[in-house]
Amino acid sequence: MDFDLNESQRMIRDLARDFAQGEIAPLAAAIDESGAFPMATVKKMGALGLLGLTTDEAYGGVGADAVTYVLAVIEISRACASHGVIMSVQNSLVNYGLEKFGTDAQKRDWLQPLASGQKIGAYSLTEPQSGSDAGNMKTTAVRDGDHYVVNGRKSWVTSGPVADTVLLFCTLDPKGGHNQTMCLLVDTALPGFSRGKTEPKLGIRASATCELTFDDCRVPVDARLGDEGGGFKIAMSILDKGRIGIASQAIGIAQAAYVLSVQYAKDRSAFGKPIAEHQAIQFMLADMHARIEASRLLTLRAAAMMDRGEKHSLEASMAKLYASESAQFVTDRAIQIHGGMGYSKECAVERHFRDARITTIYEGTSEIQRLVISRELLRRAQAD
Ligand code: CAA
Repeated sequence: MDFDLNESQRMIRDLARDFAQGEIAPLAAAIDESGAFPMATVKKMGALGLLGLTTDEAYGGVGADAVTYVLAVIEISRACASHGVIMSVQNSLVNYGLEKFGTDAQKRDWLQPLASGQKIGAYSLTEPQSGSDAGNMKTTAVRDGDHYVVNGRKSWVTSGPVADTVLLFCTLDPKGGHNQTMCLLVDTALPGFSRGKTEPKLGIRASATCELTFDDCRVPVDARLGDEGGGFKIAMSILDKGRIGIASQAIGIAQAAYVLSVQYAKDRSAFGKPIAEHQAIQFMLADMHARIEASRLLTLRAAAMMDRGEKHSLEASMAKLYASESAQFVTDRAIQIHGGMGYSKECAVERHFRDARITTIYEGTSEIQRLVISRELLRRAQAD
């Protein structure tokens, strides 16, 4: 596996880093405090191509590979994990799904404004009774002429409060299992669509999350993504990329906490010398760095497999599991190294600690990643 970056990968990573450090980092603490959605910087990310990084240029994107995408999400998330998840959802869960499963007409009409960042997208799979058990959805779509009439309630929708377009997963028959599910592209201006209150969250507070309600919402049949009955597989296939995005977000959060910890360990003295000269601190830094680098390698490998067109569900789940658990480990140790300072809201590691927590939950909990990994391993063992 060769991870020497090419010129284009380096250029886009550096562009993301410069933008993140110059324009996002100075806002990160304030928007964490206020919980305000950072529309102005999100629009700038769109103008720079960061919201359509891997989308084909023909549809308003940059046409970069998944490795570049990983590098860019890490840079954005180092500055602010809220911007990181907004970027990841738009690229992985929305644009990628549309590009992979949309017709030419759908890509022209729906993907172009999303990839260029003129519109914001959301992916809506979870319902109040079905998070991990995603196939158990109850939001129904009933065919009526050239429309589907949609009724139901979706929850925990990232970017839901500001989305112009929603990839909605619903079912033709709630008792029918996976094979009755379907994906619809919903324009949020449609009558019958409404949003609940924005969730007050522990971390990633500037990313907006809410419930969506569909009350006899009439969605045109030509806004169906893929076939009737194919929704669950589309949802899962999209998450194979989404999990690479969240692994990258977790690496960015961990990296930010690690860098602050190294600096603090050099600056702070105890027992007559910088704490960086105490073995207890050195060992913590060593563990933190090793976990970040292992996460990076797993994530880049999953992305490289995706770029080669190889199936990468197992690798994406391993990357997401390891990187998210490591982000929790690293941000916890970062607080330990900072001592009382790390527990203060005036210190950025406090925010990184809270932001890391969600990465083991959304886009499949760590338990679901273990399930995906073990099922695939056992399937392969059977085939051997
Ligand atoms: N790609 C394509 N097809 C897939 C697939 C994949 N990665 N994974 C499974 N499938 C197919 C299976 O092959 C199977 O097909 P057949 O019926 O033809 O055999 C079908 O889908 C059903 O698969 P399973 O039997 O494995 O389904 P299951 O009900 O046991 O569920 C699960 C599997 C892994 C637990 C799945 O429900 C899951 O991933 N749950 C977690 C959901 C999740 O991640 N939610 C996140 C919400 S989005 C979010 O958080 C975004 C955000 O806001 C940031």
